[in-house]
Amino acid sequence: MISRILVTGAGGQIGSELTCALRAIYGNDNVIATDLSENARAKIAADGPFELLDVMQKNNVEAMIKKHGIDGIFHLAAILSAVGEQKPNLAWNINIQGAMNVFDAARDNGVKRIFAPSSMAVFGPTTPFDNTPQDTILQPTTIYGMTKVIDELIGKYYIQRYGMDIRGVRYPGIISNATLPGGGTTDYAVQIYYDAVKYGKYECFLKEDTMLPMMYMPDCLKGTLDLFHAKRERLIHNTDFNLAAFSVTPKDIYMSIKKYMPDFEITYKPDFRQAIADSWPNSIDDSSARAEWDWKPSFDLDAMTLDMLKVIGERYKRGLIVNC
Ligand code: NAD
Ligand code: SER
Repeated sequence: MISRILVTGAGGQIGSELTCALRAIYGNDNVIATDLSENARAKIAADGPFELLDVMQKNNVEAMIKKHGIDGIFHLAAILSAVGEQKPNLAWNINIQGAMNVFDAARDNGVKRIFAPSSMAVFGPTTPFDNTPQDTILQPTTIYGMTKVIDELIGKYYIQRYGMDIRGVRYPGIISNATLPGGGTTDYAVQIYYDAVKYGKYECFLKEDTMLPMMYMPDCLKGTLDLFHAKRERLIHNTDFNLAAFSVTPKDIYMSIKKYMPDFEITYKPDFRQAIADSWPNSIDDSSARAEWDWKPSFDLDAMTLDMLKVIGERYKRGLIVNC
């Protein structure tokens, strides 16, 4: 039984919501949220413990595990694709050395299970673009994708060499309304909803027909928790599960928003992120996740759009969204 959880990168887009979901299961005091950034404290310290933790400081990771008697870790601290292209050395160091520090500290201090997410960014232009298979060519062209391939492999190495239990999914682009994304290529699919509510128009940094796999946050949380709690005996894969919900283009999201906001307008001004998006899959085969731990998403594009516009719209009316 796992009872004491550490979350790294807890102030980010996924961590800020996953921490709440974990606290609902394990109890507020049993989920220790940590982040490099002090800004994270305001988002997540109200309901439970928060501590500053830089995953590059291995001794501090180890001390945190000991101090709180941690036996389960969600390792979310990372640099995402767009920031990674601007700062390749930073992405390499945090995504690879940070993960190794967490794995080493976990191994040496009796942590029973780690969830360390990967990304659809592990795929590249030589991978089949449609219904991308689970076990396929991994030749990404972004530094972020390269670090995620290595993390998947390091995780497998620690499983095979030290008998550890490390699990992960290749998230598609995650769309949410609580915390803004941290510098990825799929960020447009979040910003478009905020700009629709605030300005009635949006300028997109990808071309209108750029198809990418996406997922709404409630499905992301469900998939993350379901894999973490899945019976190990059933799992054939471990650090690298393909995960999918739906695939959309910017034009698809625009049309979906227009169903509820007929005056919404969009323009397109592709930038360096277009090349990143062009190297990623159109759609993903997640049949291994479905077979090995019963993965099944709930939200499609229109169901997500309705919820996004409702939540962001209500917050905007209450004056809680000023700049984003
Ligand atoms: P994010 O950028 O929103 O948050 C990352 C957090 O990590 C930030 O709060 C940041 O302050 C923190 N951080 C950065 N460097 C750190 C360090 N040295 N020590 C401790 N904390 C540090 O990212 P996210 O979207 O929440 O992503 C979480 C995980 O999911 C990452 O591994 C990411 O690669 C993966 N992922 C996310 C998406 C997505 O669409 N959001 C898609 C695929 C994979
Ligand atoms: N959403 C992430 C990014 O765009 C995918 O890993 O970087």
